[in-house]
Amino acid sequence: MLGRPVLNRLRAYYKPILQRYINLSAPISSTTNGNKNEIYKSINSVVHAPDAVTSQTNYDKWAKTYDGDLDVVASVPALKAIESFSKHTQHMKVESVLDVGAGTGRVGHHLRNDAKYEGVIDIMDANMEMLYLASKKNLNFRNIIRHWVEGELPVRDESYDVMMCVGSFIPNHIPFTALPILSKCVRKEGLLIFTTRVQSTGSYKSEFDKLLAGMELNGAIQRLDITEFVHFEKSEEKVYSAVYVYKKL
Ligand SMILES: C[S@@+](CC[C@H](N)C(=O)[O-])C[C@H]1O[C@@H](n2cnc3c(N)ncnc32)[C@H](O)[C@@H]1O
Repeated sequence: MLGRPVLNRLRAYYKPILQRYINLSAPISSTTNGNKNEIYKSINSVVHAPDAVTSQTNYDKWAKTYDGDLDVVASVPALKAIESFSKHTQHMKVESVLDVGAGTGRVGHHLRNDAKYEGVIDIMDANMEMLYLASKKNLNFRNIIRHWVEGELPVRDESYDVMMCVGSFIPNHIPFTALPILSKCVRKEGLLIFTTRVQSTGSYKSEFDKLLAGMELNGAIQRLDITEFVHFEKSEEKVYSAVYVYKKL
């Protein structure tokens, strides 16, 4: 028999490990660096990283304060994407959404809390630290899929009504050339809703626009909407992004 002091020591030793990996009761931390300069440094460390591996390593380091930091600068892409979701799904049956490059689950948060969407949400991201925080948010995700999006996806074709991808179509993240593959998992007449930055990402956006125009010309997708917005509402420097909405044909 182990005595109480030994049991207490074991409990103290294992509790944080269990909380970390078995989801006992650890609350989500929404802490922030608070300091805007530090926050911009973190943002730039992932968005303007020299390569994808460095970007991912920097997400590992940033994940814990990601949500709190983005709230300080009022980062609105997820909210803007959900406004487009609500506008374009008014007359459509939506039972399943795939959120790609989901990170800490900000899109899921707005889907549940603003769009009042109660259907299936699967989330997919390459980064375990970000997905771990998403898993803690009680947003009732069906599947949390760790996957580096580039080639074929580990999901069935035509199995979602809507695919969303917010903040992740940028260099050293999800290549825009993955869009035709991503569109395969959406049913006919379903929606593709995604954001990209309008400036500061070199030729990424113009090349992406060319690919989208080609897909439209081939009759694969139909453009419904493009809305530009200011990415960080509480920033002195204006960074523009856009939400794109396409229907799969
Ligand atoms: C700027 S965050 C956006 C997260 C979330 N959608 C949001 O609105 O806050 C970009 C996310 O894309 C993920 N990501 C980057 N490249 C990826 C790839 N090739 N495949 C899957 N996820 C990727 C990163 O790990 C990160 O979580």
